[in-house]
Amino acid sequence: MNKLINVIGLGYIGLPTALILAENGNDVIGTDYNSTVVDNLIKGNIDFPEKGMNELYHSAVRKNIEFSTEYKKADVYIVAVPTPYEKNNKKVDATYVVNAVKSIAEICEDDCIIVIESTISPGTIDRYIRPLINNRRINLAHAPERIIPGNIIKELTENSRTIGADLPKIANEIKNIYSTFCNGNIITTDIRTAEMTKVVENTFRDINIAFANELAKICRSANLDVYEIIKIANMHPRVNILTPGPGVGGHCISVDPWFLVGDYPGLANIILAARKINDSMPEFVLERTSEIMKEENITDTSRVGFYGLTYKENVDDIRESPTLQLLDSMKKHLCGQIKVYDPYIKYEVTANQYYDFDKFLDDIDLLVIMVGHDEIKDSLDKIKNKVIFDTRNVVNLPKVYHL
Ligand SMILES: NC(=O)c1ccc[n+]([C@@H]2O[C@H](COP(=O)([O-])OP(=O)(O)OC[C@H]3O[C@@H](n4cnc5c(N)ncnc54)[C@H](O)[C@@H]3O)[C@@H](O)[C@H]2O)c1
Repeated sequence: MNKLINVIGLGYIGLPTALILAENGNDVIGTDYNSTVVDNLIKGNIDFPEKGMNELYHSAVRKNIEFSTEYKKADVYIVAVPTPYEKNNKKVDATYVVNAVKSIAEICEDDCIIVIESTISPGTIDRYIRPLINNRRINLAHAPERIIPGNIIKELTENSRTIGADLPKIANEIKNIYSTFCNGNIITTDIRTAEMTKVVENTFRDINIAFANELAKICRSANLDVYEIIKIANMHPRVNILTPGPGVGGHCISVDPWFLVGDYPGLANIILAARKINDSMPEFVLERTSEIMKEENITDTSRVGFYGLTYKENVDDIRESPTLQLLDSMKKHLCGQIKVYDPYIKYEVTANQYYDFDKFLDDIDLLVIMVGHDEIKDSLDKIKNKVIFDTRNVVNLPKVYHL
């Protein structure tokens, strides 16, 4: 008989996971405490800006997935709720996970499995979760998620995964469940190793991006083309430098390294330096924007437009995005009425925000590209007469300013 799976938290990670589990023959309940999220899913009022998600939703509904705000009994609970960090001490803020597990503990029966999918810092399960289920026969596990928004379904199916559990038998049970949709390698290990591995992966990415960003600053100061240098250096068989950009955002790479800094101050030195470099990039973009304005005799800041509010291309997620970081630091410097537009963001995030691309372009002289959405790459004709500062190196036009 199928095990009943309850996925708790139906956001960027939990929802596609619940849907793909249901599509692949598992009995699934999707639970979220936000009734708007659940109502929309029940009514079919859905608008996923992600390839294949609508089809996946309909397929899961045909397989009788249930959506609920109320926690219901299941054999396996998969928890995919947010894990921000505490700004003051840089440690994981486990409140959402703790609250979700408390709610599960109120209804679950002994011998069930609780899988934490949320990214957590090493030791979180021992420190915060085990005490909640003390004296109960509840199995704990950690199955961190690696997917990248923008390519969620393909990555859910193809990425390899790590599953950490106290008992190999439980790790294998969870492996069997994920194997219903995941064709990648599934490695089983203990919980602390799985916790550390996930954070290490995102920290590796952050450090490598920081190296590229630091090179961009060095090359700007030396009046050299960083992209040309990276292109040539990457011809070395063992060199693979990433692409510099306006900063690092999103809910993972800009957050998870802080967990190590918070837990291992004094040891996490490169990690801290990388975080600082990446966090300094929006300010660097602002300085470079002022230089370009001077060079182009643009004196009116209200004629400057920032393209893109999301943290990466072709998604609608603005969490921790470089543009938001930049708008924050502008508030400190009180720098005027800069305009902002993003094709994926239809609600007000900031003042002077546009919802129509042509109108936005009409009202600016200097276009600062913060996100390489397909829209901008496909609009070269529309933007070719603007002064362009392309922080992502995505448009191929004769005179474009770079980082
Ligand atoms: N978004 C990504 O790209 C990504 C990638 C890999 C890992 N992760 C990790 O996955 C986890 C989830 O991230 P996300 O981006 O899906 O978050 P999200 O904010 O998109 O979704 C979280 C959902 O959980 C719900 N929720 C919160 N507390 C709840 C509770 N107690 N009971 C029921 N529902 C609750 C919220 O209403 C929300 O709908 C985080 O730990 C994140 O670090 C995210």
